Amino acid sequence: MADLSVEFAGLRLANPVFTASGTCGYADELAEFTDLNLLGGFITKSITVEPRTGNATPRIVETDSGMLNAIGLANVGLDRFVGEKLGALAQMKPAIFVNVAGPTIEDYVAVTERLAGEEAISGFELNISCPNVKKGGITFGTEPAAVEEITRAVKAACGQKVLMVKLTPMVTDIAATAGAAIEGGADALSLINTLTAMVVDVETRRPVLANRTGGLSGPAIKPVAVHLVNKVYNEVARDKGVPIMGLGGIRTASDAIEFVLAGATTVAVGTASFIDPRQSVKIVEGMRSYCERKGVGSISELVGALEG
Ligand SMILES: Cc1cc2nc3c(=O)[nH]c(=O)nc-3n(C[C@H](O)[C@H](O)[C@H](O)COP(=O)(O)O)c2cc1C
Repeated sequence: MADLSVEFAGLRLANPVFTASGTCGYADELAEFTDLNLLGGFITKSITVEPRTGNATPRIVETDSGMLNAIGLANVGLDRFVGEKLGALAQMKPAIFVNVAGPTIEDYVAVTERLAGEEAISGFELNISCPNVKKGGITFGTEPAAVEEITRAVKAACGQKVLMVKLTPMVTDIAATAGAAIEGGADALSLINTLTAMVVDVETRRPVLANRTGGLSGPAIKPVAVHLVNKVYNEVARDKGVPIMGLGGIRTASDAIEFVLAGATTVAVGTASFIDPRQSVKIVEGMRSYCERKGVGSISELVGALEG
């Protein structure tokens, strides 16, 4: 049987497939539909110090081959996350990554510091790429100097845990922000977050989303994401030995393999889980079948193995 296990920033994972932040809550929401224990990892919804109700509705709209969301980091906040959600996550087999967000660097540090000692958590994903909040979010993720500063501050607070920095595609040169994250101490990079977009209702002549704009996700963004993963892999990550988590529009095992060939060691499944909450687990099996069909002994052999 093909070996799907991977080494990711010092963690040994059963397979490369994660859930993407914000699309599977805190895991308890999906528990009755699928066995998340079959995944390599699980990433929580972004956690902020204070609870957030998020943006006004409508905050989701479907598009051709995708969707826009302007949720605005709605979450239970740090205290309730620790009190109500962490216990169940601690029972799970996959590596648990907590996605961290906030309006200031101090907020990011506070969340990370509070959780750094929790055994249940393998790592943090730094969300410096959310397009749907007025303070924080993407504003930390577009300037290399700001990326480096926030990464360094959080790295100092996260103890032995893995620090993964989530990059936005909304920049001129993603290799520059990726390089800055590595300079600041990132152990891994995840890309991509959503692309800012708008849908207009021609009857009312208004943007459909109350927030006017939202983040585009789903199959529509996959070729962009594959390209950016490949660019970051070739231009910075491979030489520095920093692994990449690829995401953006993954719906099938073949999509996931595209990301691996482009340079991703792990992948995450987001929007596809809204169509079928079992999709991420199905992708694990599909990746195994692909390896067997192609005579690949270990999925790790395929990382960055693009021909030409
Ligand atoms: C409804 C929704 C909520 C999201 N919430 C978050 C979030 O809280 N934090 C974050 O870093 N990314 C968030 N994302 C972005 C996803 O994690 C992912 O980067 C993006 O959707 C691209 O992957 P996909 O096309 O597979 O969905 C969200 C995406 C969606 C669709």
